[in-house]
Amino acid sequence: MSDPVTDEQFLRRALDLARQGFGLAAPNPHVGAVIVDAQGNVAGTGFYIHDRIKHAEILALEEAGERARGGTLYINLEPHAHQGRTPPCTDAIIRAGIRRVVACMADPNPKVSGRGFEQLRAAGIQVEVGQLETQARHVNEAFARYIRHGVPLVTLKVAMSLDGKIAPQPSAATQRVPGIPPGGWITGKAARAHVQRQRHESDAIMVGIGTILADDPLLTDRSGQPRRRPLLRVILDSRLRLPLSSRLVQSLASEIGNKDDVLVFCSAGNEKKNELESRGVRVEQLPHAADGRPDILSVLRRLGELEITSVMIEGGATVNAAALASGVVDKLFLYYAPAILGESAIPFAGDSSFVQHSRRLKDIRWHRLGEDVAIEGYLRDPYSE
Ligand SMILES: NC(=O)c1ccc[n+]([C@@H]2O[C@H](COP(=O)([O-])OP(=O)(O)OC[C@H]3O[C@@H](n4cnc5c(N)ncnc54)[C@H](OP(=O)(O)O)[C@@H]3O)[C@@H](O)[C@H]2O)c1
Repeated sequence: MSDPVTDEQFLRRALDLARQGFGLAAPNPHVGAVIVDAQGNVAGTGFYIHDRIKHAEILALEEAGERARGGTLYINLEPHAHQGRTPPCTDAIIRAGIRRVVACMADPNPKVSGRGFEQLRAAGIQVEVGQLETQARHVNEAFARYIRHGVPLVTLKVAMSLDGKIAPQPSAATQRVPGIPPGGWITGKAARAHVQRQRHESDAIMVGIGTILADDPLLTDRSGQPRRRPLLRVILDSRLRLPLSSRLVQSLASEIGNKDDVLVFCSAGNEKKNELESRGVRVEQLPHAADGRPDILSVLRRLGELEITSVMIEGGATVNAAALASGVVDKLFLYYAPAILGESAIPFAGDSSFVQHSRRLKDIRWHRLGEDVAIEGYLRDPYSE
């Protein structure tokens, strides 16, 4: 007999397992599976990691062995019915004698969506779909955007004061600024640790050259969690002003950076290109927009070709404004510190037609982080057509 409360409990466990694949599953989806035997006891669990190849439900079935017969499979995403890197999981589920499959959602890939459920039902398995769907969609939102549109999910992350400023006026940047703690960060430790977790869940991070010149950041994932591919550090730099002495370039020669993980998009190559490349920086020239800068949509398409499913923009006012104005931003992560930087400080999105129009975020989540707060919300549904 199915019981919605018990079902929810096991689906939550499947979702937690799926999240264990953050940083390890892309460009494939995050999937967790729990098999409960006919007596109601957990017989097997699994979660997907790209390099392990085997899918979550196969790992769970292997662990369950004969106990899977007559049991229930709880899973956050529809099992696949097609031959991919592995044989169809639906065949294995049917062969194992699973009686019931409880899933949060269908596969967001329109080419295969629904086929797995169809095949399971055709084999006489009871299939229920839709419980905890909101949570499940959140877990695989980057995969959904990427698989449907061939571009990464774009999250704009900004750390700012209550009056929407991201940094003191440039002339004050090196001085002690009231409202900003020593060290120059606007937000506190808890918020910065939270940002590291967001970086961990992203395939790439992107800033403009202005941020490199102002702050000389490393842009690494310092969450301490394992990841399959290094966080790709993307710089928009039309004229290749990236200093060879920057910490970013220097990191490629140390154990901090990884080979090939700094990618600069420019709009015209010059003699600097060879110098950067000889230090391990990847430099690519892309079509440019009317302002002579790399066109942001072309940047995203290229990242999609590189199997980047998610990118977090952590830029300054110029890149933030350009990204928002071009309509590529799916999601915002706005961190607010209890400080006011004043009129002369740098706004979070400078000179943007975007900020001339009012917009309202959807599906809001609040995060309380020490003295700071973060608002997570969407400008567009990552699952939209
Ligand atoms: N609090 C925060 O969350 C945060 C985060 C990052 C930065 N900041 C602050 O922001 C300030 C830097 O602001 P910023 O506006 O100079 O930095 P930015 O937005 O990161 O970089 C802007 C530069 O990127 C280049 N660029 C290349 N392609 C572009 C494109 N398609 N669209 C827009 N820009 C493109 C442009 O230079 P070229 O024309 O030469 O290519 C442009 O001047 C610093 O004070 C930094 O501390 C704050």
